[in-house]
Amino acid sequence: MIYSRIAGTGSYLPPRVMTNAEFAARLDTTDAWIRERTGIVQRHIAESTQASSDLALEASKCALAAAGLKPDEIDLIVVATSTPDYVFPSTACLLQAKLGVKGSAAFDVQAVCSGFVYGLATADSFIRSKQYRTALVVGAEVFSRILDWNDRGTCVLFGDGAGAVVLVSSEKPGIHASVLRADGSHASMLSVPGNICGGAVVGSPFLQMNGQAVFKFAVKVLEESARETVAAAGMRLADVDWLIPHQANVRILDATARKLGLPPEKLVVTVDHHGNTSAASVPLALDEFVRAGRIRPGQRLLLQGVGGGFTWGSSLVTL
Ligand code: ACO
Repeated sequence: MIYSRIAGTGSYLPPRVMTNAEFAARLDTTDAWIRERTGIVQRHIAESTQASSDLALEASKCALAAAGLKPDEIDLIVVATSTPDYVFPSTACLLQAKLGVKGSAAFDVQAVCSGFVYGLATADSFIRSKQYRTALVVGAEVFSRILDWNDRGTCVLFGDGAGAVVLVSSEKPGIHASVLRADGSHASMLSVPGNICGGAVVGSPFLQMNGQAVFKFAVKVLEESARETVAAAGMRLADVDWLIPHQANVRILDATARKLGLPPEKLVVTVDHHGNTSAASVPLALDEFVRAGRIRPGQRLLLQGVGGGFTWGSSLVTL
């Protein structure tokens, strides 16, 4: 039996840090409101010259170095993003070129904040089916480009960044199970309902959200997804060493851990200093805890995404 396992992690945050005080200086909001309702203290914002593929490149280099692999040893590149550099070609193809290689398969996955888990499960399937032996899976976002900076209800929530993992084929798991779900009837709950037509933006180019509905839906499906995925792996919640949910809001994370009966020590939280980085949030959080020596080889991780679509999903992984 062939599985995939994570051989290396990496991440990148643009240097510019934006604090809550900067919002308070120009919008009707306060540091206290943002901290209390979201847990967010600061986020990183990309320079105007930095695209998702640039952030992805830095995270990928770190993950490849950690895995001890060179770019030309990667068979498949999957980039999860809702803020691609272009309409096309894919950010994955641009990343491949920036890595200085050619020939591997490369494509983007668009599942908003579930994108990384969707990408991981996709790459895992290719490796299990023996079509590829190695894969680079990246979540990279510049959400700062799709925010209405005058809408206090949304612009305070998000940040930019990228995270990456290198997957390799392995006789031992690795990824035990992944469960992906979607319900398109909730498309309008969280969306950027615009497109480019005839040289003009049609609809809105900015993120729109029903915050309370998103909150309730996210907590519900994160709990269901955790239970479903742990069962699919033939394990119990008590076997999970670290819960790494999509970093949307501290209150969503706390509520999910509580409903699952997992103690706060097992919950990975980085949203306080990253904000919500959409598809980048899970690999960013994973890499930060790995590099800090808190998540260690052999530990069991439950990675979880939830976001626009609506989409959600989880992967149970032994590092
Ligand atoms: N500062 C001050 N007041 C604000 C702000 C702000 N930044 N944003 C909204 N308010 C106001 C509202 O206008 C409203 O005022 P009103 O009572 O005069 O109408 C009041 O605060 C309460 O608004 P609510 O929407 O009820 O506030 P709530 O407690 O629900 O918090 C929040 C809003 C933080 C958006 C919350 O609903 C939330 O976190 N939802 C989840 C959203 C999320 O995480 N989205 C990320 C994308 S989805 C994903 O990643 C899964």
